[in-house]
Amino acid sequence: MVWPLPAFVAWALGWAAFFGLRALAAPAALALVLATLLGGLLATTGSTPWRRVFIGAGFPLSFAASSSGAGLPAWAWLVALALLALVYPAGAWRDAPIYPTPRGALAGLGRSLALPDRMVVLDAGCGLGDALVELRREFAGASLRGVERSWPLRLLCAWRCRFADVRRADMWAVDWSDVDLVYLFQRPESMPRAAEKAMRELRPGAWLASLEFEAPSLRPMRAFACADGRPLWLYRAPFEPASSPLPCPALNHARRCPCSSLPGPSAPAPTPSRNCAPLASST
Ligand SMILES: C[S@@+](CC[C@H](N)C(=O)[O-])C[C@H]1O[C@@H](n2cnc3c(N)ncnc32)[C@H](O)[C@@H]1O
Repeated sequence: MVWPLPAFVAWALGWAAFFGLRALAAPAALALVLATLLGGLLATTGSTPWRRVFIGAGFPLSFAASSSGAGLPAWAWLVALALLALVYPAGAWRDAPIYPTPRGALAGLGRSLALPDRMVVLDAGCGLGDALVELRREFAGASLRGVERSWPLRLLCAWRCRFADVRRADMWAVDWSDVDLVYLFQRPESMPRAAEKAMRELRPGAWLASLEFEAPSLRPMRAFACADGRPLWLYRAPFEPASSPLPCPALNHARRCPCSSLPGPSAPAPTPSRNCAPLASST
């Protein structure tokens, strides 16, 4: 099922279980607990921790909102829905909702990649600008851009990241051809489309960086170990298909278990195996 459908189905099943139990004369508290447990069970099917939270918390939160909001007029619910649609325009759900790059996650990336100073870096889907803050620290001389689909998030991000050029736009419609590094923190489902766009638009030497989620059709050039153990997958144009041999054996380990094979930046001394060395031809 396409996300966020699994969450909606789980919430609906929670409510169905609650009303079903009430119809069987179960006490409200017992019905609430059992329906919440059902949501908890369904949450285990979520493919990421964040999705599991969405699936599991939906029923109890909507229950709380419906009880505490019983006295609210109908227009208040409409206003709340309109605000939600503004923050999360329907199209943004197909990629990722707001979930910021953790603070410090990209520490050491600038040293590890050693890119030229005056390059253009784009955060495609910049949310509130957390990744832009990280990228600015790592690539101090770079010209930073952000595009964000949601108006309110774009405004907040532009206010917070006055050092960057932040626009409201659909990242799939924005041209990437003059960008040296495109940073993504989206969803696994967004990655095939991102890979296609990168292959079409990024010029030779430019990088595509994806936090956590791999582009299945491309061969990564490196995997950078973030502070929390998550990999930042790094691809460089001209891209090679995923079927071609990996540049170093550590990437194979990273694919199977990024956390255990890529020690974070807090590791004592950076060694060649910490973050994979690029192919000789890429340097
Ligand atoms: C997981 S958040 C990442 C935010 C930021 N890049 C970071 O790492 O801190 C994904 C963001 O992408 C935005 N987004 C999703 N689809 C988009 C699209 N098609 N165009 C622009 N932004 C989009 C969402 O609104 C959300 O703010």
